[in-house]
Parts: sequence; structure tokens; C-alpha cells
Amino acid sequence: MEVANSNLFLNIKGMRFFSKLYNLEIVHSALEYIPHDNDIFIATIPKSGTTWMQTIVYALLMNGRAFDDDINDYKASNPFLEMDGQQAIESMQRPGAIKTHLVFNYLPYNSNAKYITVIRNPKDVCVSFHRFITSIGRGAQNDIAFDTFFNDFLAGKTGHVDYFEHLISCWAHRNDDNVLLILYEDMQKDIRSVIKRVANFLNIEISEELLERIVIVSSFDYLNKARYNEKIDSKDNVATFKFLRKGITGDWRTVLSDEQNRRLETCFREKTKHIHELNILWD
Ligand code: A3P
Repeated sequence: MEVANSNLFLNIKGMRFFSKLYNLEIVHSALEYIPHDNDIFIATIPKSGTTWMQTIVYALLMNGRAFDDDINDYKASNPFLEMDGQQAIESMQRPGAIKTHLVFNYLPYNSNAKYITVIRNPKDVCVSFHRFITSIGRGAQNDIAFDTFFNDFLAGKTGHVDYFEHLISCWAHRNDDNVLLILYEDMQKDIRSVIKRVANFLNIEISEELLERIVIVSSFDYLNKARYNEKIDSKDNVATFKFLRKGITGDWRTVLSDEQNRRLETCFREKTKHIHELNILWD
């Protein structure tokens, strides 16, 4: 297995893990995890709506329970594959959902496991990711300028994975029986129909009452007021992860210059030109 250490990143299979936040052995163990039948993965690129989907899936599995009804229960049933490692996943509370930011093609695979992925307009992901990286303090790139981060994003050299590699690899599996691909923008437009799709995918019957409860306990306002950011801290307290920021679509308009907008669109068209549907996805 290819491993090259730089100061900032552990490079494993072309993915880049912040070396102060991740542990080499744990990441390797995560890659070797053999999924159980019925495992549920929430497999995304960071800043695509992972947290939103986690709180929806948790509430579906737990008959409407909010993350803060029992924070320890929520944490025990929502481990983070590459940060917590194989052992933690083996002993996780089930039913639950495994969060991961591994490139889709490198996910531990079992045809009887289920994979939910959320994808989001790269412009918003880029802005959200930059704001995240520069706010989590020690261990990441606290002071990286947006222009530098933007160039890294286009080149697929930010922390974690290349946005485009992940997008293309999960898109290829979007019609698999055990894969559900959701757009963050669809969650914004019509969260009820997204929750119903997720329920259907997980074979969970959902009443109107449960649906309304889940809309509320997964909403940005609820998570914000219940202080999700403060309650979901990293394992060793090396960073305070802010999973909630603005929670809107189109914030890129306040950040990207016209030239950056053009460059990102050109890059997107170039990298996805062989996939017509992807090419028009965020037009
Ligand atoms: P912004 O930084 O654009 O606000 P992830 O969970 O994958 O790290 O994604 C975080 C992004 O999703 C952040 O985007 C965050 O605000 C947004 N988000 C998290 N929960 C949300 C919710 N319930 N509704 C809408 N957006 C949400």
C-alpha cells in the first residue's frame, strides 16, 4: 500500500489525511474493515451535507430520536470510519450509520451493506471546506488563504480527497441497488421527499408524524440551537469541528471572483465531459 508522509498530510492511496488529526494505523485499519451485512455507510466528500444526512438516518433508525436526546448514544451509533478505525466500527452501536470521507471507490464493500452519498455543488463545497479548514484550529491549515485553497481544490490537493474523483466514482454507482445518491440542493428544495427516499432505501416505514418530527430534528435551526458543533467534538479534542455554518446554497457567490467561477466551471466541464448528466447537474 502506497504511503508517503508529508508534514501536513498522511498520503494514502492518493487521499490526504491531516497528520495531526488522523493516525496512520487507524486509517489503514479502516481501509481493511470488512462490512457486516446491513451496515449503513454515509459516504461523502467533506462539506456536502454529511451531518444533515447523519441526523436524518439516526432519527429514522431510532423512531424520531434527535441527536441530543442522548448524545452518547448518537456518538456510539455514528462512528467515523477513518478517524475511529476498524475496531471502533466492529463494536459500534447498531443500528447505526458509519460516516466516511473515503473516495467512493476505496470504500469497504459488501453487496449487502448500504451506501448513502450526498453530493453538492463544488463551488459551495469549496467555500464551505475552506471556512471549515481555517476554523478548526490546530492540526489543519488554519491560515491558508482562499486563493491558495481554491487552487488546491481544482488540482485535487486539499485535505481528504479530490472532489472530482469522489464525484465521478460515486456517480458511476448511483443506480446500484445498495447505493442512494442524494443532492444537497434537493435536500434544500424538498427535504420531505428526500427523507422519504432515505426511509424507502432503508426499508423503514414512515408515518406523516415521524416525517415531520425528522424534518425538525435534522433542521439547521434545530442542530444550531442544540449546539451540534460544540457537542460533536473530535475524539482527542485536538480541534473543534464546526459542522454547521450557514447551511444555504449559493454562498459561493459571496466568495468566488468571476475568474475563479469561470475556472471552476471549466475544470468541472473538463473533468466530467464524459458524463452528460453530471455536466448539467448544477447549471
Ligand atoms: P456551509 O459551510 O455552506 O454552511 P458536512 O456535514 O458534510 O461537513 O457539511 C457541512 C455543510 O452542511 C455546512 O455548509 C453546514 O452548514 C451544512 N449543513 C449541516 N447541517 C445542515 C442542515 N441541517 N441543513 C442545511 N445545511 C446543513
